[in-house]
Amino acid sequence: MVKSDNIDEIIDHKLFSEDDIHEMCERLGKELTEDYAGKKPIVVGALKGAIYFLTDVTRHMNVAHQLDFLDVSSYGDGFESTGKVKIITDLSADVKDRDVLIIEDIVDTGLTLKYMKDLIKERGAKSVKCCALLNKEARRTTEVTVDYYGSKVGNEFVVGYGLDFLNMYRNIPYIGVLKPEIINKYAK
Ligand code: IMP
Ligand code: MG
Repeated sequence: MVKSDNIDEIIDHKLFSEDDIHEMCERLGKELTEDYAGKKPIVVGALKGAIYFLTDVTRHMNVAHQLDFLDVSSYGDGFESTGKVKIITDLSADVKDRDVLIIEDIVDTGLTLKYMKDLIKERGAKSVKCCALLNKEARRTTEVTVDYYGSKVGNEFVVGYGLDFLNMYRNIPYIGVLKPEIINKYAK
């Protein structure tokens, strides 16, 4: 029997260790430092999954920037895309004529990222790019560019380091593949 309240018992196997994640943040931070030098971008964290990654990667980004958050959701509390995206919490900043960098935890179908990029472009941003920790490229159904990413992942459901299942398990310090029996237990 698998207990879903104990985080040690829900992981099938570890995919990225804390060291792996640290390396990704360092590498991405360096790239962002070069590309955004002198631009004073608005860094937009996609709530809630990106907060762990955002606080680490921006500490390696040696560029003055402003921070904002956007919560758009296509998933509800579940783990399969509903196909519809809506704004839960809007940006507080005016993005007109600004360089905007969206920080995401994972890009899956691409629907959420496409929606966010289009929204920010429509509001007159000078540029809109995305830095995602993980890229589930094989699952893409919408054409959208993930400008920077830490690693590609296959078609597995991962949790930890901000990534959730039913809004749980974000606080696991590494990234692991969720046991299929946990998914089956909650799948309707
Ligand atoms: P998309 O709109 O299908 O690209 O969905 C992106 C969102 O789905 C991400 O921001 C995550 O919140 C969620 N998501 C997709 N795959 C996973 C996963 O393997 N683990 C946890 N969340 C995921
Ligand atoms: Mg999520």
